[in-house]
Amino acid sequence: AATSKEDLRSPICCIMGHVDTGKTKLLDKIRQTSVQEGEAGGITQQIGATFFPKQAILEKTAVVNKDGSYEIKIPGLLIIDTPGHESFRNMRSRGSSLCNIAILVVDITHGLEPQTIESLNLLRDRKTPFIVALNKIDRCYGWEPVPNGGFRESLAKQSKSTKSEFDDRVRKTILAFAEQGLNAKLFDENDDLRRNLSLVPTSAITGEGIPDMLMLLVKLTQERMSGNLMFMGELEATVLEVKVIEGLGTTIDVILSNGRLSEGDKIVLCGQDGQPVSAYVRHPEVKAALGVKISAPGLERALGGCRLYVAHDDDEVEVYKDMALE
Ligand code: GTP
Ligand code: MG
Ligand code: NA
Repeated sequence: AATSKEDLRSPICCIMGHVDTGKTKLLDKIRQTSVQEGEAGGITQQIGATFFPKQAILEKTAVVNKDGSYEIKIPGLLIIDTPGHESFRNMRSRGSSLCNIAILVVDITHGLEPQTIESLNLLRDRKTPFIVALNKIDRCYGWEPVPNGGFRESLAKQSKSTKSEFDDRVRKTILAFAEQGLNAKLFDENDDLRRNLSLVPTSAITGEGIPDMLMLLVKLTQERMSGNLMFMGELEATVLEVKVIEGLGTTIDVILSNGRLSEGDKIVLCGQDGQPVSAYVRHPEVKAALGVKISAPGLERALGGCRLYVAHDDDEVEVYKDMALE
């Protein structure tokens, strides 16, 4: 049943890397928001998900897919932002456990840093395909921005000395990845996505390289996510965070990795005191992958980080209560 075209699900991508490499700023640039400026000390302290529908991806990649010759098959992309500060390893671990693919952000002026390596190892341990955004290229001395341009178009506009600084930084980064046992190449010189790591130069300030980054994510998904992973399957949902919001009461932020959640579904999840919690979904149907906020009476005791189940009858409620507590 799960083979019809409309049953394709959106992959989950997590964005990871050392503190202040520009993860949130990159997402802000794609969303046209300014979340990063509102963060205390400019430090991300939680994980948050943003859904980019296919239409948005088509628009944002148009400059590098002019004739639309590369077909985008996925219905969208769910991107999870994670903190880079060293004290939030648990959130990076949770983010990496939920994603199908990832973007590892490296500041081109700093190279590989401690949480770059930590993130890299989390991804390698889980065998998650990932790309590297080599961010802050606009910091190369004398950089002339081409706002929201494709990377090659931008690079061609740079002076000889700026280009030589850029080349030098790329070379150093490739060397540092080699020391980690990874064969890295600039994305458009990489003809084997399975064997080599792709580096996409970007700037979250000017938007340069972001079209290439999104295009590469789509390619990575379509070429490296196994076929059945792309299709809608059984419900797979995880509680990211439990929050009290004025006017809404206790809400849970859920990542729906697979399947659907519909109005009237009875959800079962684990609670703080070892007792299961259940509540009814009150919003129209949503399909994976999506970040969804659920508010319902009875969620006060919900616990972050655990699986969420849907029970169709009382027997299932009992079964899932046991599973939710495992
Ligand atoms: P954490 O979530 O705290 O780990 O940081 P982050 O990786 O999300 O980085 P963030 O988006 O907070 O950016 C850190 C700083 O770098 C901010 O001052 C940004 O304005 C700046 N920045 C981010 N990307 C770029 C870029 O491409 N170019 C330049 N020049 N500055 C950037
Ligand atoms: Mg951030
Ligand atoms: Na930051």
